[in-house]
Parts: sequence; structure tokens; C-alpha cells
Amino acid sequence: MRRARVWVAQPLFDDVIERLREHCDVSVEPSVVEHTPAAMAASLRDMDGALVTLNERIGGAEIARAASLRAIANVGVGCNNLDLDVLGAAGIIATNTPDVLTETTADFGWALLMAAARRVGEGERWLRGGHSQQWLFDRLLGHDVHGATLGILGMGRIGQAIARRATGFRMRVLYHNRSRVDAPTERECDASYVSFETLLAQSDHLIVILPYSASSHHLIDATALARMQPTAVLVNIARGGIVDDAALAQALASGHLAAAGLDVFEGEPELHERLLSLENVVLTPHIASASRATRRAMVSVAVDNLLAALGLGAHAGRPPDVVNAAALGRRGADV
Ligand code: 8YV
Repeated sequence: MRRARVWVAQPLFDDVIERLREHCDVSVEPSVVEHTPAAMAASLRDMDGALVTLNERIGGAEIARAASLRAIANVGVGCNNLDLDVLGAAGIIATNTPDVLTETTADFGWALLMAAARRVGEGERWLRGGHSQQWLFDRLLGHDVHGATLGILGMGRIGQAIARRATGFRMRVLYHNRSRVDAPTERECDASYVSFETLLAQSDHLIVILPYSASSHHLIDATALARMQPTAVLVNIARGGIVDDAALAQALASGHLAAAGLDVFEGEPELHERLLSLENVVLTPHIASASRATRRAMVSVAVDNLLAALGLGAHAGRPPDVVNAAALGRRGADV
């Protein structure tokens, strides 16, 4: 039997990728490039498996000529870069990397909330801009985080990890989710389920952390923003497109919203131009999971998934994190 062929879409931790080489012929893209659909189709064509990131958008056109492709392991928990229905119908197993990034991403949600509410970015820019360091009573007055009401939109693993951290800040925690989480989880998180409208109206600070889908597209639009308090801070660490960035920029500019912290953007890697000129928004380049340990763990989980989905390695045939169950048992799938 020939060795499986695997494409790795960008250089990742080489020693982790080495584990693929024990079982497969591995071809690693030498640098981070934006793959056109045609280039991606060419890269995937003779492959059995692929290890990709959110930079790689894969749907029907990209897999059209990939007759032997059986598995795609996404490095990341969000999979909106993959057309899961198309992959499932083609019998191509798709996997993601949950759990390992939960705590790191929750940390970062808090980092953005604190930075935006307490105007850390503005203070930095003030000093780096050569302004006076003289203490002023009313310089950069922000909004308290402790004791405030924290809203969480999306109560999956990361939402829950964010909620657990709120205890130390003595906050009231409200959440909204597609479905209410079970009572023990609510108790552990000390969080109360409310309607979407109540969440918007009552949150002093709102963190968005739910998957992107057609139904979450522009969930936070101009109407939703208008329901929020003018002293509120909005944080998006989920996906661009859940928040309407143009409407958000307008709300921030008009004073309808106090501040925002954004790690993800609509149309990424592009960024809504107006956000760049606003002082009251903290902008980071999609780094919520970017601690060294976590990024390594993500690649490692993706490698485990890919090997297992290709019927190789210790978990052969049992990939732990399949996100398109429809693929299982279909043409080419080994599980
Ligand atoms: C990753 C993320 O950095 O996991 C996710 O969904 O957004 C990030 O943690 C990204 O997916 C890398 O591909």
C-alpha cells in the first residue's frame, strides 16, 4: 500500500509536523500565502489529507479534482473556512481543535475587555505619541469592570471559561445561547440565561463568542447596538461578520457605545477602514489563541485528527474531533 500524501498549508511547528512524516509523505507550503481557489485545487489534487488554518477556504471548487482526498484537519475550533456540507457529501472528514484553546482564548477575551473598558490602548498611544505624563485627575476615565454586569453571547466552552473568570471580579453574569446550558453548568459559571434582547439591554460589557454561521451573520447589527447601553463595551473574539463592523464603527464614533475590543473582523484579513481612526476601539490581529503552548497544542491535536482520519497512528479510524459526521462511512472515509 502506498504511503498517504498530506499537504500542510503553511509552516507550523516543525517538530509537531514531524509526527505526520512518520506515517505520510508530507508537503509543507514554504511560506504563508493567500491561496487562490485554483492554487488550492492544485495543492489538494493528489493528496489524501490536508492540514489547514482559517486562511484556507475550502469548498466545492477546491476539492473538485481531489479524488483521493479523505481528510482535512483544521487548526482552530471555528470551521467557517470549510464548506462542511460539501466535504461531508464527498466523504471527506473534517476535524477541528476544541478544548486546547479554551482557556487561552478566554484569557484574551478578558484582556480585550479590560483594555477597552480601561482605555489601555489610548494610554499607550498617548505616551508613545510624546504627550505629557503629568498626572491629571480626569485623564482617560474609563468604565469599571469589577461589579458590572457581564454579558456573554455564546455559552460554549469558551463562553463558560469566560464566565468562570468573572467570579473574581464579583460580576453578575448573563448569557444568551442557541439553547440554555444545563443547570450544573449554569451554577458552576454562576450565569443566568436571558433573551438576546435582555442581554443587549442589561450588559455593561458584552463578549461575543459564538460560531459564525448564516444565522449569526450580523447578529450584532445597528439595531442590536442601539439596544446596548451608551456606557457599554463590546468585545468580539468569535468571528468577523457576527458583528456588523460598519454599524459598530458608527456606534463608537457617535458615542452610542463606549468602547470595543476586536480580535476578529468582517472580511478578514481586511479591516473596516473607519475602525482604524477611532480611539475607543482596541484592535488585535486574531491572536486570541496565540500563546505558544496553545498554538503548539492546536497543531498537535490537528495532527492526531488527521492521522486518525486517514486510518493511521495510535487512534487510527477514530478521529476525536470530527465536525462533519455526514462524512463518516462515505466514499473514501476510513472510519
Ligand atoms: C485560530 C480561531 O487561531 O480556533 C479558532 O477558531 O479563531 C483561532 O484560535 C485560527 O482558527 C487558526 O486557524
